[in-house]
Amino acid sequence: MKKERLQKVMAEAGIASRRQSEKIIAAGRVQVNGQVVRQQGVKVGTSDEIRVDGVPIEKEQAEYYLLDKPRGVISSAHDDKGRRTVVDILQEAGVSARIYPIGRLDYDTTGALLLTNDGALANKLMHPRFEVDKTYVAKLKGIISNEEMKTIRQGVEIDGHRTQETHPRLEAVDHDKHTCIVRLTIHEGHYHEVKRIFAAVGHPVLKLHREQYAFLNLHGLTPGQFRKLRTAEVDALRQL
Ligand code: URA
Repeated sequence: MKKERLQKVMAEAGIASRRQSEKIIAAGRVQVNGQVVRQQGVKVGTSDEIRVDGVPIEKEQAEYYLLDKPRGVISSAHDDKGRRTVVDILQEAGVSARIYPIGRLDYDTTGALLLTNDGALANKLMHPRFEVDKTYVAKLKGIISNEEMKTIRQGVEIDGHRTQETHPRLEAVDHDKHTCIVRLTIHEGHYHEVKRIFAAVGHPVLKLHREQYAFLNLHGLTPGQFRKLRTAEVDALRQL
């Protein structure tokens, strides 16, 4: 059985953040199997009984959600400036678990975003090594040329790193408005990756939508709506 650090277990049970939990431990408020524990780094397993101020804690059930993120919300659990977050959307609809988003979409980007309280799966999926495919549809300023599409396909230089080979597809062109729509699948997660790829060939992104994350698409959802993942979907994410 896997053992985990006491402060991590406390955080996952919704007691307090890990840092705050360390302080609660140091203050002598935590007992493991009836013994007060003050030192940091103690590991506990599911058979250990943990009490904070005498009250037993229970680990939260893991929950997994797919949100169609609307424009104008922040992809984090809290925002210093008090703006609405993706977590607010789920909480307003009655979700009480301490969930957070797996990765980020920009404030003005819409589309598929996963949220969970399962730290292990979140860390795995966010790790660059796992290379989860993400498909974006971008509306671009200007009409992209074949030559520019080829440049993107081969990888462009952004702030000292070269993007991986991709297969962008030109989906539509609006000659009147001088814009076009391109679909692109990437598995990197660098900051503003898609916007910077198109900016690198001279076409700023006007609108960005993530239509798919791994095998999960947004069928049946409208912006601001979310659904629970099915067990089979969670298992498939674990096996990616
Ligand atoms: N790339 C971006 O530039 N923005 C996003 O929100 C996601 C990927």
